[in-house]
Amino acid sequence: TRVAVLVSGRGSNLHALMAACAAPDYPAEIALVLSNNPDAPGLDAARDAGIPAQAIDHRPHGRDRAAHERQIDGALREAGIACVCLAGYMRLLTPLLTGTWTGRMLNIHPSLLPAFPGLHTHERALATGVKLHGCTVHLVTERVDDGPILGQAAVCVHPDDTPDSLAARVLEQEHRLYPLALRRHLEGARAEPLHEGVLLAV
Ligand code: GRF
Repeated sequence: TRVAVLVSGRGSNLHALMAACAAPDYPAEIALVLSNNPDAPGLDAARDAGIPAQAIDHRPHGRDRAAHERQIDGALREAGIACVCLAGYMRLLTPLLTGTWTGRMLNIHPSLLPAFPGLHTHERALATGVKLHGCTVHLVTERVDDGPILGQAAVCVHPDDTPDSLAARVLEQEHRLYPLALRRHLEGARAEPLHEGVLLAV
């Protein structure tokens, strides 16, 4: 399956997906990396790996989100993309993209949804005092950080955690979860089940 990854920044989840796709039996290839940010390190990483990478800057479009998204949609179609993975893509999407790609667009979010949609999830998790936190891969719908959940990974919150230390532990799990959830999504029941287990935190 030809997959596109959309990034805005660092791109560590892109790296995890690229590493997974290198395995011969993995059901996806990353055929395109797009970013709204021309300086996103993820673009260079993709190019270094021989993956076509394109910056589609949102700024020339001003407030016209739809015009920017039409350009993205055009690039996805031109590359024959079948499935889109948002990986730290920091633009809010309009129905132009979410409607076109319903059921074929995944996102990773750094919380156990439906808890803590939006930004600053680790700060909010600590402020709330939850004992379990984590990350979620879900299908993208019109509503931000909403939509059918494909997979989750949990970590225990430590008493001495800072937002940074918690973010780092969650990020490790993001890198495990995203490739597994994408595989599961593409292969359905044929894929190995996600790791089952129970986490208990007191
Ligand atoms: C991750 O925490 C992801 O869950 C969130 O944005 C961050 C992106 O990190 N949506 P990276 O660019 O993949 O390193």
